[in-house]
Amino acid sequence: MDKLVISGGHKLKGTVSISGAKNAAVAILPATILSDGVCKIENIPAISDITLMCRILSDMGANIKMINKNTIEIDPTKMVFCETPNDLMRGMRASCYLMGALLGKFSKASVCLPGGCDFGTRPIDQHLKGFKALGADYDINAGVIHVECKKLVGTHIYLDVVSVGATVNIMLAAVKSEGLTVIENAAKEPHIVDLANFLNCMGADIFGAGTDVIKIRGVKKLKGVTYSIIPDQIEAGTYMAAAVATRGDVTIENVIPKHLESITAKLEEMGVNVESFDESVRVFCDKPLQKCNIKTMPHPGFPTDMQPQITALLSTVEGTSIVNEAVWDNRFRYIEELSRMGAKISVDGRLAVVEGVKKLTGAKVSATDLRAGAALIIAGLSANGKTTIENINHIERGYENIVEKLTNLGADIKHISHIFPEEEEVSGI
Ligand code: EPZ
Repeated sequence: MDKLVISGGHKLKGTVSISGAKNAAVAILPATILSDGVCKIENIPAISDITLMCRILSDMGANIKMINKNTIEIDPTKMVFCETPNDLMRGMRASCYLMGALLGKFSKASVCLPGGCDFGTRPIDQHLKGFKALGADYDINAGVIHVECKKLVGTHIYLDVVSVGATVNIMLAAVKSEGLTVIENAAKEPHIVDLANFLNCMGADIFGAGTDVIKIRGVKKLKGVTYSIIPDQIEAGTYMAAAVATRGDVTIENVIPKHLESITAKLEEMGVNVESFDESVRVFCDKPLQKCNIKTMPHPGFPTDMQPQITALLSTVEGTSIVNEAVWDNRFRYIEELSRMGAKISVDGRLAVVEGVKKLTGAKVSATDLRAGAALIIAGLSANGKTTIENINHIERGYENIVEKLTNLGADIKHISHIFPEEEEVSGI
């Protein structure tokens, strides 16, 4: 089992370039099957979730060509309806987007209940509510969702809860439906806007993405296009937190600063200097950090996908900080691992009380999910001594070249491939 080994205590200094947004790419790739032509998608992050999504689409008959590690050409024109490959579908949450895409393309879909990060129940009732409102019927049998309709007809859908996945899936099902669909209480994340922009480039008629009311007027055809994915807001935030945790000075390039505003605001509240430029931000510390409270919210609030990373940072900030995870009901599993490093954090339901300590101590820890793994890397970078992180497959799902990027910033981090009888250092994530 591969692992990461970090020797902490090195200030991160220099420049890091951010890759394409995972959560935009895993929505746009399934969306390409709605096209009547070939799509070329650029700035795709080279991460395992993308590899998995491409395998699923290829198994379903799409012709996938890797132009380079960050550019993929997809020709969906020869696809015929088939059930999705269940063994692959369980590998990630975004596989559920195939429900909306297949419904939009074939008026039916058979998709197994999705996998993904395990932090509590991950229902899809709002996705199914949207499909039903559009005229589809569904049933769930032996863990597979069968959705079908004679004709998708536009309608007014009010989401009971702000859901990224439901917003994506309803957009994909509605884009070639008949008439007007209105999604109220829609998610406003940057990756929702990126998906809408991609679909509109193909000829869709979507407006309001980025607000809580998205209107979709169905169109008959969508053409193949070339499109570049936006930079990853969460990858950028992760490097911002790592820079602060090591009290370093890092410029994060290839970002959209507006997407980082809630993260920047929190870091500035802690006393961090954040300089924003057109396509980069510089993060550095020149005074002691202040504790602060965090409440995760749908965009434009503080992103839940940055909660583990900021908590790892707060664990070495003097004073008591309160972290309220208001999106997921069980996203603190990683705190047990942080405690092995000397963090003093108590958890009660959706609240974590962080008592800052002077320094963490390196330890053997295990990543429980993607962002938890990022939090453990941040803790290891700032800790005294050596930290070994296992189950790094979670981290490989969402961070392109993280070992190389951190090494270039001065971190002492190695990816060890566990091959018997001895261990060997490999380059890689
Ligand atoms: C997406 O997950 C992201 N994943 C998650 O990022 C992210 O944490 C989440 O949005 C919130 O921003 C991808 O984009 C692939 P939701 P998703 O539907 O769509 C409830 C990462 O680290 N809900 O917005 O599954 C749900 O229980 C990953 O990159 C329902 O009740 O999240 C949760 O409390 C982890 N019914 C809230 O809504 C539904 O039908 C938000 O969930 C759907 C959701």
